[in-house]
Amino acid sequence: MNRQRVLSGIQPSGNLHLGNYFGMMRPALDLHEDPGNDCFYFIADYHALTQTPDPELLRRRAHDVALDFLACGLDPERAVFFRQSEIPEITQLTWVLSCLAPLGLLERCHSYKDKIAKGLTANVGLFSYPILMAADILIYDSRLVPVGRDQKQHLEVTRDLTQRFNHRYGETLIVPEAMIRDEVAVVPGIDGQKMSKSYENTIEIFGDEKRTRKKIMRMKTDSTPVEEPKNPESCNLFTLYKLFATTDEREEMAAAYRRGGLGYGQVKQALFEQYWEAFAAARERRRELEREPERVREILAAGARKARAVARNTLGRVLAAVGIDLD
Ligand code: ADP
Ligand code: TRP
Repeated sequence: MNRQRVLSGIQPSGNLHLGNYFGMMRPALDLHEDPGNDCFYFIADYHALTQTPDPELLRRRAHDVALDFLACGLDPERAVFFRQSEIPEITQLTWVLSCLAPLGLLERCHSYKDKIAKGLTANVGLFSYPILMAADILIYDSRLVPVGRDQKQHLEVTRDLTQRFNHRYGETLIVPEAMIRDEVAVVPGIDGQKMSKSYENTIEIFGDEKRTRKKIMRMKTDSTPVEEPKNPESCNLFTLYKLFATTDEREEMAAAYRRGGLGYGQVKQALFEQYWEAFAAARERRRELEREPERVREILAAGARKARAVARNTLGRVLAAVGIDLD
């Protein structure tokens, strides 16, 4: 059977949150249930380096992301799971692609422009981040890339670079496609903006019970009085509640909004309970994994060996295509 290569990565740039979970991790986990998919998932530590100058912090976060993903259900028997930095071929392919990338293509990238607008000092790594991401994708001949909507433009850059490469050097690389689930493309944070580690508006997957309850209870809502009917579709709390609820629960809650007599405090309480329950088993698995750092390291090392074999092969093909022959 010809299996389809699926690939995605996540940066170890802070504690993972519901946006990461529903936008990227859940779709990635669903895809690895299907034996027709050959899934490669990795921790993008080189990407995180663009914004994490503290070595201890980078080390700790990379380990934490591994624990989070495994605890959430990533099965190393079904997906190759590894750290990006264990595949040095990635940086070589990044260079080759850099020599093909027009400046304007990168200058137009929102994620870079947003970071600059927020006052982050730009380094060259941050600017060329999408090329490193393209290398991640192309080096494994990936066809499908599950991500949240904020990564859509990066996927377009990847496709653009792939086409340029194939046009200049002949068909060598596979043009990948993003897979973005509409219903969770942008999960809102506690302030209503996109949930993001950089906006400090997250609900963490493995957040502390008391702190998370408080965060949810403090979420801003409009000032419609309790007795009045409310529109669930324009309410952030409902958008988050929907992610956890069954269809019946969702419809019941929507009806209660419309009927009136429902206070936002009650919705917050229900949301917290759903959230807490949804990750109960994962929380338990994470505690176990915390006690087994050696096992986690072995999983990542075994994943890196498999990923590297594929990466070496593609890089060889690419270098030969551009006129660099290594024996
Ligand atoms: P953050 O914005 O918190 O730094 P990342 O950029 O590390 O998150 O994103 C990791 C993955 O999670 C990406 O695929 C991204 O699209 C997805 N993701 C992040 N935030 C959200 C969100 N609020 N809604 C949907 N998907 C998201
Ligand atoms: N840029 C992605 C993010 O911030 C992480 C990432 C790096 C990635 N390389 C990738 C995602 C390759 C998908 C494919 O979320």
